[in-house]
Amino acid sequence: MWQSAGSVEDYSEDEPSTVSVGGKQIAVYLIEGAFYATAALCSHGRALLSDGYLEGEEIECPLHQGRFHIPTGRALCKPLTEDIATFDTKVEESILYVKIPEDPA
Ligand code: FES
Repeated sequence: MWQSAGSVEDYSEDEPSTVSVGGKQIAVYLIEGAFYATAALCSHGRALLSDGYLEGEEIECPLHQGRFHIPTGRALCKPLTEDIATFDTKVEESILYVKIPEDPA
């Protein structure tokens, strides 16, 4: 289900953000004009990825420097053993939408 993540003007290149979308914490990235969304928390610990270091399409966790590939959520190096969730994004009339899967009832 597509949920609003606010105005595209609230986001800037090279500055990932953590936002609440549809009751979930999501990390949003704007990379070369394209929006990406992943789980907000690292799969290794309770670190917010938006506090990490963004380089190209990779985000480095601020706690133990594990790196993820943002478009796929793939864990790229130790100490990570698990990928993170990714979410589809779209922009309509300057509003960013993130597709949040419905929780099974
Ligand atoms: S909490 Fe992210 S690498 Fe350890």
